[in-house]
Order: sequence, then structure tokens, then C-alpha cells
Amino acid sequence: MKILAIETSCDETAVCIIDAHGAFGTPFGYKVLGNALYSQVAIHAPYGGVFPNLAKREHGINLIPLLTRALEQSNLLENYRGLASAKSGQRDESDHRGPVSVNSADTVSEMLVREPELLERLRAFLEKYEKPAIDAIAVTAGPGLEPALWVGVNLARALAIIWEIPLIGVDHMEGHIMMSLMHDGALSDFSFPLVSLLISGGHTELILSKEWMQYALIGQTRDDAVGEAFDKVARLLDLPYPGGPQISKLAAQARLRPQGEALGITFTSPMLHSKDFDFSFSGLKTEVRKYVEGAAPLDDDMKMQIALAFEDAVAHVLVSKTLKAVDEFGAETIVVGGGVSANAFIRECLAGALAKAGNVQLLVPPPDLATDNALMIALAGYFHALKDDYADPATLRANGNLRLAPKI
Ligand code: KG4
Ligand code: ZN
Repeated sequence: MKILAIETSCDETAVCIIDAHGAFGTPFGYKVLGNALYSQVAIHAPYGGVFPNLAKREHGINLIPLLTRALEQSNLLENYRGLASAKSGQRDESDHRGPVSVNSADTVSEMLVREPELLERLRAFLEKYEKPAIDAIAVTAGPGLEPALWVGVNLARALAIIWEIPLIGVDHMEGHIMMSLMHDGALSDFSFPLVSLLISGGHTELILSKEWMQYALIGQTRDDAVGEAFDKVARLLDLPYPGGPQISKLAAQARLRPQGEALGITFTSPMLHSKDFDFSFSGLKTEVRKYVEGAAPLDDDMKMQIALAFEDAVAHVLVSKTLKAVDEFGAETIVVGGGVSANAFIRECLAGALAKAGNVQLLVPPPDLATDNALMIALAGYFHALKDDYADPATLRANGNLRLAPKI
């Protein structure tokens, strides 16, 4: 089954096409046929964070070029052969390639009325190319920044209607989980219960799965997400957006320094001893801010040591709550997903702690697929397609607050 996936939940515009076969429990495998991603990071950097309306506009401008590139890489892009080829009997009646019918063009114009950048490019694209041999279209329906989500959702709905291809609405967080479960184009061998630690710019959650594609929320942040805390602390240190990789680089440099030269800065790991599985990062950010204000002006060496102390405090609480979940739910597998799972120190701390805890397997995504991408959406979309879990293109809506799992 060939799945075309679209991801626009935040500041990455991404399109991916995979060819997947099999199912969970039977040999499953996939090949990436095409993968095109445009990161808007440089555009948002001057604002120190993602600016939703700017993200929306950039998605509108870049989606069609990325779709074209991904189809081209997949060898699925064919120039429109014109009406002559239809008349000469090269096509049958069921073939919907070619110019868009007047009715569906109207529907699509209505659908994309708030996406002028996209509509203009989509029209030109549809006039130029044939319908590709795709079996389903998967799109991130949420959670994320709603104006940004809408662009991807509306393009997916429009393509589903025009090409008459089934549509799947995907939960972005499930995409992160699926990505971490993969290894070398197949599913890793793992056992349930499985606990997912999802750490991204918008989320910090612990999710329990006792069975395949069953999710229950066991804990979450009460305020800032961990990625958001990385980004805010980076701003306090005058480091560019996104701050996660910057903080992590500085902290790694600080760890290489001889012990004697350390300032001995420590920050409190928030909610370390709370009885639940919840997190909180806004107090930690305030603690860093107060330290920074008291110690200003900061030299590079102090910034390095603050980054290290912050990363230590974050890693400590993430590891501690994850181990608590292993104990409480007898988890045999821990999955880490979301942009912050690219963090090498957090990975190392989790791996060390789980090795000590005994028979618990740790699954992490390849670092370059930890942050947002469309491959993860294609994978989640494929497994929903197997369950015939399709969306109606007339009614699919973007939902910035979409929840993968109910709280238990
Ligand atoms: O999953 P993601 O790409 O987008 C959301 O769904 O939010 O996560 C982005 C977040 C940003 O806050 C970024 O600073 C953080 O992931 N991040 C990192 C690292 N790489 C990205 N945080 C810590 N260490 C990293 N190496
Ligand atoms: Zn994400």
C-alpha cells in the first residue's frame, strides 16, 4: 500500500511517500519512496519561537513544491497526458486522472479559500500532473498549532476529493510513537506493556499501551512542555531558537571540563517526589531565570554550566518518572519519542537507568527522525488504514488539542 503523508503541525512542512506491507504480528515492512521536508526554523528564529500565522503562510507556499518533489523521488509524477489520451482509449472510465471536474474544483476552491498561497499552487499542480498511484493520504489532524494544521488538513482533504483517494486523520503523538517503534524499515521486536515517554515542544506525556494501538495517558506536564522549557532557557542564555540542540551542545561541552572548574550550579528537578506521573517545568525555568538575573552578565563558561545544570535537572525527573511507570505497570518496553528524544544525554541517562532496572527494552528514534517529519505520519496512517479507520474528507477538521489517550 502506498501512503502519501502530510505534516504541518508546527514549523516543519513535510511530505513523505511510503510503500508498506504486512501488519502488526505478521512481517511488516516499509520503504520510503520519497521524503521532502522544509524546516522554517530560520524564519521563526528572530521571534524566539514559532509564530503561528507565519507558519501557516510558509506551509501554504511550500507544500506543493514539497509534494512535487516527494512524488518525483517516488517516480510517481507524470505529466498530464491531455484529453487525447483519454479519448484514444488508453484510460477507462474509472480513471480519474486529468483535469479536475468543475464540481470538485468548486469544492476545493471553497475549502482552500483561507489558504490563497496554497490554492494558487495547487491549481497549477493539478493542471500539470496526472493523478499518482497512491492508495491513501494520511495527514496530521492534531495536536499542534491550529492555523498550521489547517493548511495540511485542507490540502489532504482537497487531494482526497479530487483524486478520489481515501483519507486518514493522524494524531501527531501517535506518529512519534510509531517512529520510535521502527528499526531498519520494520517494526522492532518488543513486548507489552509498553510505556511511551513523549517529550516535544508542545507535549510531555507518559502513555501506557497494553496492546497494539491502545493508549492510556498516565501522566503529563501541568504547565510547560519539556521542549518549551529547553527553548525558554535557551532564550534566557541568548541562544538562538530552537534552544534544545543549543543547550544540549553547551551542556555536553561543560561535561568534558575538569570537575574542579565547575561552579557547582544545581537546579531542582521539579515534582521529583510527587506520587503521580505528572511533570512541571515552569518552576525550573523560573529558577534558571532567577539565577541568570542574579549572575548577569553571563560569560560563555557560566552559560555552559547553567545549560548542564538545567539538562541534569530535566533528565533526572524524566528518568525517575519513567522508572516509576516501569514499576507500577510492569512495563517491558519504554519508547521515547518527540523532538527532545534527540537529546543524547537524556537517552544516555534513560539507557543507564533501564539497564539497571533489568529486563526493560528502550526504543528511541534515529536522531534525525526524532523531530517532526512526515514519515512518522505515513507509518501511523498505514496502521489506521489497515483498520479501515478512514476520515471523511468533507468533515475532517484540524484540532490543535487532539488527545491520543484518555487519562486513567
Ligand atoms: O517533536 P518536535 O519536533 O515538535 C513538536 O511536536 O513540538 O519537538 C521540537 C522540540 C523543540 O522544543 C526543540 O528545542 C526540542 O524539540 N529539541 C531538543 C533537541 N532537539 C530538538 N531538545 C533537547 N535536546 C535536543 N537535542
Ligand atoms: Zn512533534
